[in-house]
Amino acid sequence: MGVLLRLITVLCANAGIDKTYEVPNFAPGGYYHPSSATTSAGGKGVNVARALATLGQAHVIAGFAGGNNGRLIMRNLLDAGLQADLVSIAEESRITISIIDREQGTQTRVDEVGPLVTPGEIGRLRDTWRRSLQRSAMGIIAGSAPRGVTLELYAELIEIAKSLKKPVMLDARDELLARAVAARPTVITPNLNELQRLVRRQLSVPEDVIKAATDLVESGIAVVAVTLGARGAIGMARASGVWWARPPAIERVSSVGSGDAFMAGFAVASMERRSFEEHLRLAVACGAANAETAGACVFDAARVREIAAEVCLERLDGGDEQESAPEASKQA
Ligand SMILES: Nc1ncnc2c1ncn2[C@@H]1O[C@H](COP(=O)(O)OP(=O)(O)OP(=O)(O)O)[C@@H](O)[C@H]1O
Ligand SMILES: [Mg+2]
Repeated sequence: MGVLLRLITVLCANAGIDKTYEVPNFAPGGYYHPSSATTSAGGKGVNVARALATLGQAHVIAGFAGGNNGRLIMRNLLDAGLQADLVSIAEESRITISIIDREQGTQTRVDEVGPLVTPGEIGRLRDTWRRSLQRSAMGIIAGSAPRGVTLELYAELIEIAKSLKKPVMLDARDELLARAVAARPTVITPNLNELQRLVRRQLSVPEDVIKAATDLVESGIAVVAVTLGARGAIGMARASGVWWARPPAIERVSSVGSGDAFMAGFAVASMERRSFEEHLRLAVACGAANAETAGACVFDAARVREIAAEVCLERLDGGDEQESAPEASKQA
């Protein structure tokens, strides 16, 4: 009998500091005191971890942290109750500044390029990933990577997960995604735009999306879940068919981080060994709960349950609606 592992390792190669200023009637060239200022650790993997924590799911963030910003990231994660095992790097972690202007309804972003990581630091991240995955039920890889990292990094991390027989979920874009897909992650969660770039063609919803997902599933990826913003998500799993999960209408405040919340919901359903369509229900509910709240992956678990009860599940491939198995959890 194996030990029951309850942890999820979340890779966040691009962790940084997100500073958000609210400036009414912001204009270039002006001088302002923001009406509010918040500082938090950010990056897609950090967002996923924040959502996992809200859902009561144990997690460890693997990533890089450097300089004073790196120390701020670590302190901020600690304050937020998030667990992290970060590789210390020589260069300074990046800061992203968002200026929100509610009067004009605009958001201005200033994104630092971020640190250049060395081969030795990347090697230590690989070691952290392996070590942490050994005591985890699954891995999640989310977001972009800093300069210095080869486009093969995610493919290598997926190979490590496979060698340890751990399922791995992936959310990335462009060349990082394309190369990672060649290593056959267990689950991918592209949005429509990312899927179109991956298959290099425009896709109609749902026909072409189903075709593209079918090809990916036939190539050896167990689950393809394509997120469609307010339209929900179309998910396909090898043994469970194709489903369209639609959220109820909600009042959107900011959907930044909805894809990250979606991943967290999917992962938690997988830990709970729910049926495939119930993975989609929880994932879509988390994405919607995120969209009606300000801040990336800041939402309420009770609200997720309310929305989940209203998610509409439709089977698109005419299979038996009654039966489906928990894909990601049985995949390893
Ligand atoms: N306006 C909305 N109303 C209801 N649900 C939403 C809305 N926007 C997003 N969602 C939910 O969140 C999920 C993920 O959203 P989306 O497709 O926008 O991901 P994304 O483009 O990867 O976002 P990001 O990368 O910013 O996290 C959707 O599948 C849907 O369930
Ligand atoms: Mg996304």
